[in-house]
Amino acid sequence: MSLKGKVAIVTGATGGIGRQIVENLASEGINMVLGARRAEKLEEIKNSLPSVKIEVVKCDVTKQGDLENLVEIAKDKFGRVDILVNAAGVSSQYPFWQQPKEDIEKVMYTNYYSYVMLARLVVEIMKEQKSGHIVNITSGSVMVDPPPRNFIVYTSLKVALRAFAKGLFWEMRDFGIKVTSLFPGVTRTPLTNRLKDISEEQSRLMEPEAVAEAVLFALKQPENVCPLELAVINQRTPWKKPVIPFKQDHPDK
Ligand SMILES: NC(=O)c1ccc[n+]([C@@H]2O[C@H](COP(=O)([O-])OP(=O)(O)OC[C@H]3O[C@@H](n4cnc5c(N)ncnc54)[C@H](OP(=O)(O)O)[C@@H]3O)[C@@H](O)[C@H]2O)c1
Repeated sequence: MSLKGKVAIVTGATGGIGRQIVENLASEGINMVLGARRAEKLEEIKNSLPSVKIEVVKCDVTKQGDLENLVEIAKDKFGRVDILVNAAGVSSQYPFWQQPKEDIEKVMYTNYYSYVMLARLVVEIMKEQKSGHIVNITSGSVMVDPPPRNFIVYTSLKVALRAFAKGLFWEMRDFGIKVTSLFPGVTRTPLTNRLKDISEEQSRLMEPEAVAEAVLFALKQPENVCPLELAVINQRTPWKKPVIPFKQDHPDK
């Protein structure tokens, strides 16, 4: 299925996963509006991909006005939005009792609110078009139950995002709008560099290419097929410690 000439908004375009998605979308001839806070990095990415039309927008996804501006620019420059890829995100690894309040707020607005709000803004356009595809980069952690220790705010918001996307699919499918949630395992990106307890054996981490390939897989399905959820998980566990310890010292000990 040809994607040439379609228009995509991609958030997190300067990140490990987002950047690779942008490259893969460009290789299919998809024009893009890219959002992130680092404007100079966005320009660099635009200049490296001359085969497609790219608009770059300095955007803080925790700010409502910036989200609205991103979608407005896509409408103004291209007149349509066929694809939204939500790939902006932050990591957050704390024992809950030590997690700063500001961190909880940042994760909520970046990893959850911006995804939902951008979906809200683009569905109006996609509904008019009677077509569109929303792809959320969620997380493989949603498949771990209970949520992994030290990641409970991060993971529970990803679980909420997963639930949101499933509901959105059922609500929007009669308008021709597809929704895909992608659950990557631990991937080699700047985000992972900041985490503790990741294996030093780099070959245990996935490359962003695996995630970007899964995005294209989702986008290339026939009109009547929607890959609602795709999990691309590490074959070799990347953690030094189990994510759910099976043994714990009693607090009184
Ligand atoms: N890496 C993994 O192992 C992994 C696994 C599962 C799920 N994920 C998910 O995949 C997504 C991308 O992660 P990544 O590994 O690619 O992270 P990354 O390399 O750290 O990139 C994060 C991206 O998000 C953008 N971003 C962060 N805060 C923002 C804000 N307030 N406003 C606008 N943009 C913001 C950054 O752009 P600027 O700094 O330029 O603003 C950057 O483009 C996240 O949702 C993450 O939870 C990652």
